[in-house]
Amino acid sequence: MTRRFGDFQNEIYGDGLRGQLPRYPVDIDTLERKAAEALPSWIWSYVAGGCGDEHTQRANVTAFGKWGLVPRMGNGAQVRDLSVELFGMTLPSPVFLAPIGVMGICTADFHGDLTVARAAERTGVPVVQSTLAMDPVEVTGAIHEQTPGLFQLYTPTDRELAVSFIQRAERAGYKAIVVTMDTWVPGWRPRDLNTANFPQLRGWCLANYFSDERFRAMLGRDPQDDPVGAIQLWSRVFGESVTWDDLGWMREATRLPIVVKGICHGDDVRRAIDAGADGIYCSNHGGRQANGGLPALDSLPEVVAAAEGRPVLFDSGVRSGTDVVKALALGATAVGLGRSYVYAAATGGEDGLVHHLRSVLAEADLLMAIDGYPRIADLTRDAIRCVL
Ligand code: FNR
Repeated sequence: MTRRFGDFQNEIYGDGLRGQLPRYPVDIDTLERKAAEALPSWIWSYVAGGCGDEHTQRANVTAFGKWGLVPRMGNGAQVRDLSVELFGMTLPSPVFLAPIGVMGICTADFHGDLTVARAAERTGVPVVQSTLAMDPVEVTGAIHEQTPGLFQLYTPTDRELAVSFIQRAERAGYKAIVVTMDTWVPGWRPRDLNTANFPQLRGWCLANYFSDERFRAMLGRDPQDDPVGAIQLWSRVFGESVTWDDLGWMREATRLPIVVKGICHGDDVRRAIDAGADGIYCSNHGGRQANGGLPALDSLPEVVAAAEGRPVLFDSGVRSGTDVVKALALGATAVGLGRSYVYAAATGGEDGLVHHLRSVLAEADLLMAIDGYPRIADLTRDAIRCVL
């Protein structure tokens, strides 16, 4: 499956010849600055901030600088094929959108999950839809026709509710369940603590809970009639500390592939696989959960080795097409954007997000062209060297 992602630059230069500059920035620094201006400060600080002094969050980004790609010549990279296979699906590119539990409130209409689903449809870049959303899975899932969606589960303490979420996502057409293991309790986030700001505790992004029959039965009334009680119930049921044994009942609840997110150690990969996981998601939650850790990129080779050929999704610190290619060369099957795409959607809505995704894909495609790696499979460990 070849798509000429790199041709996006011809479009941009061509528009320029007609006197039209890009409506949205191509580089991440401008995007970030514009998002800071566009978002209300309480949403901006929640998105941009992380755990502790944010050392891990910064290290995730700078870790990419430790690695350098090796250009190879003469192997006919005029046509590239960036497609990947994931759980029986053929995706046009290895890029996906990581789950963002406040995405719903990051666009001006407060329906950011729908914005992202539509941009995913337009670009072929799949989204992992968070449990935390302004619109329920039945609505977000209905948007996915050409581009598959995956569903991220924050496992509630009530098992019946957890099963309900999994099965609603499956019925809504989602193609995999991504179980986040590192967030049964929020990390220590000074920016949010200084402003006593936790959006879900103010009732945002809880549509999947408030629309759920089991949740409503637990509450005993309509959440609209008792918003405070509904939020209090949410805070009680939100976070189960998932163990490997839990993958057993999840496996029974669905036919979908199960991916575990937040994995950074080879032994955890082996345990996850023994417990029935179909895929591994190497991530440290963008440094939002635990500070003082390794950059997620440094864990990727160990995770890939332990996965022994099973799919490994990766995120944390990815800011560009170049970062995507480096993570692929270190063994990732697919690479997730996080904050970068939130900034794009906050700045330019659906069109701004499409522009960002096309930019990331174009950069990756052109890099592979110039460095002489026509297919993802050509990006082996020989393609990348540690430069520090
Ligand atoms: C997240 N992340 C996240 N992860 C998850 O499994 N479920 C979720 O609901 C959320 N919510 C969320 C909100 C915000 C504002 C951010 C920034 C992140 C983590 C996310 O999926 C991903 O792991 C990180 O965003 C990757 O790091 P970078 O690239 O954004 O720095």
